[in-house]
Amino acid sequence: MIQKQKGTKDIFFEEMEIWEEIEKNIKEICNTYNIKQIRTPIFEATELFARGVGNETDVVSKEMYTFLDKGGRSITLRPELTAGVVRAYIENGFSSRTSPVKLWYTGSMYRYEKMQKGRYREFSQFGVEMFGSSSVLTDVEVISIACKLFEKLGVLDKLTLKINSIGCKECRAKYVKALKEYLADKIDGMCEDCKIRYNKNPMRIIDCKQEKCQDVKNGLPTILDYLCDDCKKYFESLKFMLDNLNIKYEIDSSIVRGLDYYNKTVFEFISEDLNLAVGGGGRYDGLVETLGGTSTPAVGFGLGMDRIVLLLQEYKKQETQKPDIYLLTTTNEQFIYATTMLANELRNSGKIVETNISDRSFNAQLKYANKIGAKYLIVIGDEELKSKKVQLKNMDTGKVIQIDLNVKEILNNI
Ligand code: HAM
Repeated sequence: MIQKQKGTKDIFFEEMEIWEEIEKNIKEICNTYNIKQIRTPIFEATELFARGVGNETDVVSKEMYTFLDKGGRSITLRPELTAGVVRAYIENGFSSRTSPVKLWYTGSMYRYEKMQKGRYREFSQFGVEMFGSSSVLTDVEVISIACKLFEKLGVLDKLTLKINSIGCKECRAKYVKALKEYLADKIDGMCEDCKIRYNKNPMRIIDCKQEKCQDVKNGLPTILDYLCDDCKKYFESLKFMLDNLNIKYEIDSSIVRGLDYYNKTVFEFISEDLNLAVGGGGRYDGLVETLGGTSTPAVGFGLGMDRIVLLLQEYKKQETQKPDIYLLTTTNEQFIYATTMLANELRNSGKIVETNISDRSFNAQLKYANKIGAKYLIVIGDEELKSKKVQLKNMDTGKVIQIDLNVKEILNNI
């Protein structure tokens, strides 16, 4: 038997309903914030991620699905979507639109990662990206959208929002210098990756998950001590606004994010119970310019939808949707009547209706209606068709009432 690829999964039945609930809430929330949906290709030129996300990041250096296509182009399955959205922003001239340009997306992304619970090779994100505003209020709005989704899904109190500032280029230059000084006599004892990071991109050392690097990491200097006055003020405003909007957060200077494009605000939503980040984001004022556009401030987030599903499975008893009504018929004539005169209209009014599409006997249909949890049942036999009266059975209570055989009567009584 051919099996699915490592790190991928099939989503169906009960889990699918959780996905649908999340997707429905995403659409509703983004609509109320007047954010427009964008869809970009699943594969892009490799260079987009090399330049946009950063060659020294784990995502680009270790985890990308990269291949040459038949035309000899280097193609990569998107490992994240911010770079693709920025490319679309530049390529489609979004900067001529009224700013801020506010976009949202959901979609699959691909990272060649070590499989574990909540860590897949194909996974989905819901993301929001806002372009054209350098106000801290945009950072706050972006964070509040993520909070709103978690709140609507009933899991906000299960998560910790961790925020940090990684400052501007100048702050980081000073910090990196201090970091290197601190690490100078320790780097030899660290992992091979960290030795490379030490020279190429020392801040990535803060992300290192290797056991042997953890002790050294505990004593690292913190970026917050190296912020310039502007960045300090910006971070203070962020905290002030979050406090006043009643958004709970913790400051965690070890949050530097695993992608190179960030500056100033960075944040993550952490589930302590799952021991996973359920989402992350931040400001990336330099990325549009890095990828060839005119300098444009921007901020956004990506939430791991697979991980949100895990959260909902963990904390919420998911009621699967049950059919509202089962229409029991045993002949083709009865089936045609049930479909054309009843089921079509009932479905048009949003009811979930099942009919006898499997040639089941009368008794087998009674059993089936029970098994699928139909809330009501109507038998449409020849007698019923003649008299235009039917018995409507409440399958939970067993109570039966007689009603006229028409859609209005059914809707009034279920
Ligand atoms: P990221 O932190 O790499 O950021 O990913 C965002 C979220 O995607 C993570 O917090 C996690 O929930 C989920 N995720 C990442 N990798 C996996 C995986 N292998 N399996 C399951 N879930 C995963 C970004 O991708 C940025 N583009 C976010 C952003 C948007 N920043 C600004 N705008």
